[in-house]
Amino acid sequence: MTRHLLRDDDVSQSEQSEILDLALELKRDRFALTPLAGPQTVAVIFDKSSTRTRVSFAVGIADLGGVPLIISTANSQLGGKETAADTARVLERQVAAIAWRTYAQSGLEEMAAGTMVPVINALSDDFHPCQLLADLLTIREHRGRLAGLTATFLGDGASNMAQSYLLAGATAGMHVRIASPREFEPAAAVVHDARERAHVTGGSATLFADPAEAVAGADVVITDTWVSMGREAEKAERLTRLSPYQVNASLLALAKPDALFLHCLPADRGFEVTAEVLDGPQSVIWDEAENRLHAQKALLTWLLRQA
Ligand code: CP
Ligand code: NVA
Repeated sequence: MTRHLLRDDDVSQSEQSEILDLALELKRDRFALTPLAGPQTVAVIFDKSSTRTRVSFAVGIADLGGVPLIISTANSQLGGKETAADTARVLERQVAAIAWRTYAQSGLEEMAAGTMVPVINALSDDFHPCQLLADLLTIREHRGRLAGLTATFLGDGASNMAQSYLLAGATAGMHVRIASPREFEPAAAVVHDARERAHVTGGSATLFADPAEAVAGADVVITDTWVSMGREAEKAERLTRLSPYQVNASLLALAKPDALFLHCLPADRGFEVTAEVLDGPQSVIWDEAENRLHAQKALLTWLLRQA
């Protein structure tokens, strides 16, 4: 049966670990695997802006021996003109896989339900699973393991990044803490699913209102923009409500002395994180950005092997 990655818990703990192992193998020997030799084409569709996702998919697909077909919704029949299901049926006759950056998670589900080729969530309003594979790879490289580590995400707890940390972190057996104001808490269903997964892996998922309490003793500290794509109209309110959750040197000092700092980027310097932290010795953001390439190549390779 065709496998997809629409949300982080679409893979089990052992499958996630297999993908990360493959990513490390591809990082050591970039052109070792060519599952897209032919060359086969992978469609990468964007309803929202992107730098890292666009570049890492384009480069990664070429590294794997394939051809990237980058589609902007504005120049296609998607976006109200044709359904995701119909688009999927057209694409599957010609491409090996589809990656899609979009708004509603339901669009991805519709696309996946309508096609025989793997569909990858390249970011939705709810989840960013490709980024989490890169983040987990980065943490594993720097710490040698994932299970048992404590990762604290601060800021917009209802964002795609926070919700993906809950699901992917719980899958990896990590203790995930989300610190946010009550009205920015993750969806109750996502917290529930993360706790179910954590029950199996030995991890945990905990919500905090107090940033200092959430960061205390953490191995990894993460934040993301306070104004995700699609939320621009709420910018003023968000900057006010989320400002107590800024990751600055004094907050980071409450974590373990060697705690890692991660940010998926792009960063709004001086808002969710200070430049001092972003550019400081604990920050691994550039490794994290590079690891998008290796993680997505591994994911594509793994998904194509399951088909
Ligand atoms: N982190 C991330 O997905 O970046 P882009 O929006 O630039 O793709
Ligand atoms: N949460 C951010 C991530 C950008 C990569 C957004 O959705 O805009």
